[in-house]
This record gives sequence, C-alpha cells and structure tokens, in this order.
Amino acid sequence: MKTTPPLSIAVLGSGKGSNFQAILDAIRAGRLNVRVACVLSDVSDALILERARQAGSPAEFVDASPFKTKLDGAGEQRVLDRLRRHGTDVVVLAGFMRMLKQGLLTTFAGRIVNIHPSLLPAFPGMESWKQALDYGAKVTGCTVHFVDAGMDTGPIILQKTVPILESDTPESLHHRIQEQEHLAFPEALQLIAEGRVRLEGRHTRIRP
Ligand code: GAR
Repeated sequence: MKTTPPLSIAVLGSGKGSNFQAILDAIRAGRLNVRVACVLSDVSDALILERARQAGSPAEFVDASPFKTKLDGAGEQRVLDRLRRHGTDVVVLAGFMRMLKQGLLTTFAGRIVNIHPSLLPAFPGMESWKQALDYGAKVTGCTVHFVDAGMDTGPIILQKTVPILESDTPESLHHRIQEQEHLAFPEALQLIAEGRVRLEGRHTRIRP
C-alpha cells in the first residue's frame, strides 16, 4: 500500500449498497487507499444511505427530479453542488440507476467509474444476469469501466468472469456475479488510487 494521500471518492447508488459495503470493507482491511467523501442516493430510503451513516460517512438523499431515468437539469446541478462541497476526486457509481448527462460527464471527465453485472459490451441495461441466462450464454461476469455518454459503455478497467451453470436461476447467478463485483470494484479503485490506470482513447492501460 502506498502512503500517498487517499483518493477522495463520492459514491452514488440507488439500492442496497452491497458494492459500497465491499469498498468500506476493503478500506478497513487496508486493501484500498481511498476516503469516502460522501454517499449520495436518488432514493430516499435506499439501504446504501443507511450503510453510509453507520460507517460515519456523509450520506445524503438528492432529489434527482425532474427526470425519471437520467440525471440532468436541476437534479444534476444538485448532485454537482454536493460533489464540489465534499471535495470529490472520483465519482463511483455503485448501482446508480440513472444515465449521467453532460454536466457531470464534462466536470468529471475520465473520473467517473461504474460497475456493471455482465461482461460488457454484452448485456448492457437492466437485469443483465437475466439477459445472459435467457440468451443461453455459458459465461458472464462483471465489468468496472469509466463512464461515457452511452448506456454501460466506456473504457474497461477490469472484468471478472462467472460461469453460467445448468442449474442456475436468475437469483443464483446474480448472487455469484455480485461476489465477483465485491472483489472487482475495490481492486479497480485501488489501481486508480495508485495511479496505475492510464486512459488511451477507448482503451485503458494498466501499469504493472
Ligand atoms: C450491482 O450488481 C451493479 O452491477 C448494478 O446494480 C447492482 C447494485 O447492487 N448496476 C447496474 O446494473 C448498472 N447498469 P448494490 O446496490 O448491492 O451494490
């Protein structure tokens, strides 16, 4: 672990926050040199906010209206204000279920990271584990990537694979993908914290 000052991350999530929990656990275990500047959610009773409060991190519901599926306009401005106020180096999307728009993408260009439950570019969008199962894929997994204007697109930082078993249900497959997510996200963030991820157009290069 380097002794450089920790990277300051803002975590955005809409749901239960198991990935955020994995990040917290990795920080506590000394595997991840980041500081949680704040946790923001567009869902007022999301479990991710409760987890943050219990961990002593600033946790705020942010009204993301006027839109339902994207973060734009006044809602985007409210999020930007919080990110600035809390001093954010990197924005971490941990189950944040809205598309980001130009204001955030420009302000934090190359500094927004997302986790997605498939081997992108396969199965973007919702319930990707179910999409993989329905398609008859034999392998799926998870992807940590930088965010661009597309839906679950952007330069890939790392991926982990999960075999799809004959006996899998959507729930069992989702569970095994999440186990891999909980390893992948802290690993990817630590690579960023160590300054080992270089962006080259659509590709990333990881320094050994
Ligand atoms: C994660 O599985 C993440 O990959 C997914 O939401 C879940 C959040 O779980 N994100 C997407 O599908 C984004 N397109 P969590 O709240 O327990 O971390």
